Amino acid sequence: MTVEAEFKPGLEDVPAAKSAVSFLDGKKARLEYRGIPVEVLAQQSNYEETAWLLIKGDLPTQKQLAEFDHDLRQRRAVHYRLKDLIRCMPADGHPMDALHASVAALGLFYPCPNVADPARNWDASMRLIAAMPTLVAAFARTRRGDEILDPRPDLDHAANFLYMLGGKEPTPAARKVFDACLVLHAEHQMNASTFTARVAGSALANPYQVIASAIGTLSGPLHGGANEEALEQFEGIGGPQNVKGWLDAKRAADPKYKVMGLGHRVYKVKDGRATVLQEIAEHMFAETARPKTYETALELERVAAGIYGPKGIYPNVDFYSGVVYQSLGIPTDVFTPIFAIARVAGWLAHWHEQLVNNRIYRPDQISVGKNDVPYVPLEQRP
Ligand code: ACO
Repeated sequence: MTVEAEFKPGLEDVPAAKSAVSFLDGKKARLEYRGIPVEVLAQQSNYEETAWLLIKGDLPTQKQLAEFDHDLRQRRAVHYRLKDLIRCMPADGHPMDALHASVAALGLFYPCPNVADPARNWDASMRLIAAMPTLVAAFARTRRGDEILDPRPDLDHAANFLYMLGGKEPTPAARKVFDACLVLHAEHQMNASTFTARVAGSALANPYQVIASAIGTLSGPLHGGANEEALEQFEGIGGPQNVKGWLDAKRAADPKYKVMGLGHRVYKVKDGRATVLQEIAEHMFAETARPKTYETALELERVAAGIYGPKGIYPNVDFYSGVVYQSLGIPTDVFTPIFAIARVAGWLAHWHEQLVNNRIYRPDQISVGKNDVPYVPLEQRP
């Protein structure tokens, strides 16, 4: 086979690592974290336990989980000068850009320069998991002129974030929904941001740089940023009655038009996480009127299945997550930062795994540029 024939744009089907962190079968919509189906974890576990499972490889004992939970609570607060830094950020900036900068800054205040020390790596991992929600909530509040709230050590991970963001303790039902969302987004095999984390980790970058790099990749609209765009799309359509006309017009204008929240490199059936999120939405709206955005999403899924289903394009995790977050009162541009505060556990699990048998990533390229081009002095150029 020629080198040219081996080239796979987007590295489709090219293994980038040997990994035991998660398993994904895109034909059966099966996703397992360390062998446990994600649906089971979303229902029966919680984010703290899932984060331990992903990074350490096995479920924790009761004692391990209690200590981990305690250690996370201890690391939620951030240095007051980091809060000052966040206050100085432009209020109209995107929260993903703020998170990217804040996570890099977290590494300035709590450095972990030597990744050869497992104890410091574990400490930094706990700090990242614990403090990222604080950073996201701090920017979300300060940009609208609200005081930054201190974390509440009496609340668990999910409840504390909703409290720091909105200023009031969530109901048990809202806490459970949000916790399940965090679990569902915690890990997803060799996606673009995880690959980024592994590449940065392979250069022995410090864990804060590793996670900041992954956050940058996640921000893209073809990756985590799709959850915001999916909700904006449902709002723009304006209601289920407009779906068909909207989609026909988009496809007439651009036959390659991408519907946000549909399609996936690996899944050729509906993403199992979208199914769980839809069940969560159904449950949430069982006793209240269904929001128009949700009705629109349902109709778009139905109409799109007839058009894109034969190509294996179905809802991915970003299709229904925004509808759920919106009903929890979360601002749209905070959806992707929430993805990041969940996915940090998966990124860290891959980073730890990468360090065990590390070799720096250094792929090849197929050169298509010129060679032996003479240098023409500036004054001689036309
Ligand atoms: N709407 C309409 N058509 C689509 C969509 C979509 N959302 N996604 C893919 N297609 C079509 C493409 O036009 C292409 O058609 P063609 O074969 O006729 O040229 C074919 O399906 C393959 O699409 P690619 O973009 O080449 O697939 P790839 O695997 O590279 O991309 C991706 C996957 C980026 C997720 C893509 O489906 C997409 O852009 N979806 C919309 C954005 C989105 O929802 N992203 C979130 C993904 S999940 C996550 O990252 C958390």
